[in-house]
Amino acid sequence: MSVPIELRDVSHFYSPGTAMQVAAIKNISLTIEEGEFVGIIGHTGSGKSTLISHFNGLLKPSKGTVLVDGEDISQSKEVLRAARFKVGLCFQYPEAQLFEETVAKDIAFGPKNMKLPEDEIARRVAEAAKYVGLRPEMLDKSPFDLSGGEKRRAAIAGVMAMEPKVLVLDEPAAGLDPRGKKEIHELIRNYRSRTGSTVVLVSHSMEDIANLADRVIVMNHGEIAMNGTVDEVFSHASDLQTMGLNVPEITRVFTALHDKGFDVPPNIYSVKEGVRILRALLEGGVG
Ligand SMILES: Nc1ncnc2c1ncn2[C@@H]1O[C@H](COP(=O)(O)OP(=O)(O)O)[C@@H](O)[C@H]1O
Ligand SMILES: [Mg+2]
Repeated sequence: MSVPIELRDVSHFYSPGTAMQVAAIKNISLTIEEGEFVGIIGHTGSGKSTLISHFNGLLKPSKGTVLVDGEDISQSKEVLRAARFKVGLCFQYPEAQLFEETVAKDIAFGPKNMKLPEDEIARRVAEAAKYVGLRPEMLDKSPFDLSGGEKRRAAIAGVMAMEPKVLVLDEPAAGLDPRGKKEIHELIRNYRSRTGSTVVLVSHSMEDIANLADRVIVMNHGEIAMNGTVDEVFSHASDLQTMGLNVPEITRVFTALHDKGFDVPPNIYSVKEGVRILRALLEGGVG
């Protein structure tokens, strides 16, 4: 199994050597394997954004080593540049970085940087726009004429158009209404099933992570507190609560029903799935 991202004992200090020094992440070792969908959760300030900024060398570790495709990215400019293209980072509120005169040019920004041929850039822009649900006529508009959700999708398309080996998204649905949130989650899910790419999703919503990711890394005060499958991590509800995180309400309901002897699975993470099971239970006359 190939390992596109590996961190070995990585720490990052902001304002090092000053009275303001902050150890934002401490002694982090982790691997992200090819094709995985990894969720990262943790309280505000737990180090999530700092952590993922190391995945493509945007931040340099104060201590430790970052490997992309098995190569230490600090070894040369060339390896670092390659890592920037292999690992596509989509920041929080990425629409703030739209600045070109048309949506098409904005989506083309990354592929242009990669010095791809014009026709390949055009192909990628059209494809990425289609997959995030931006109609072709929107491509010639100014990004400032789009709605909030459309802007967000245009910014995500720009990272997807680089066709990175690993797509990393920092709270991609933050600040959107429930419908906008759902659209973003759908497009991430579709992107994953279509491309089979490795995806890392940062979210503070356990429900979102449970519904999308295979594996969960829990950050707490700059350290990895848990790292396991959704089922493993969510079975530690009280530990998660201590870290300022809550398992979804629906999960707590099902765990309680299960513990009381009802014939339901304890590991239900979505209301939709919960309703389906309860309905079957009621129709079956179990009680
Ligand atoms: N540019 C910065 N300068 C100084 N401290 C920072 C900076 N960015 C983040 N921090 C601090 O580092 C810690 C981790 O922050 P961050 O990685 O943004 O966490 P999260 O994304 O989980 O909210 C916090 O204590 C935060 O205040
Ligand atoms: Mg953050």
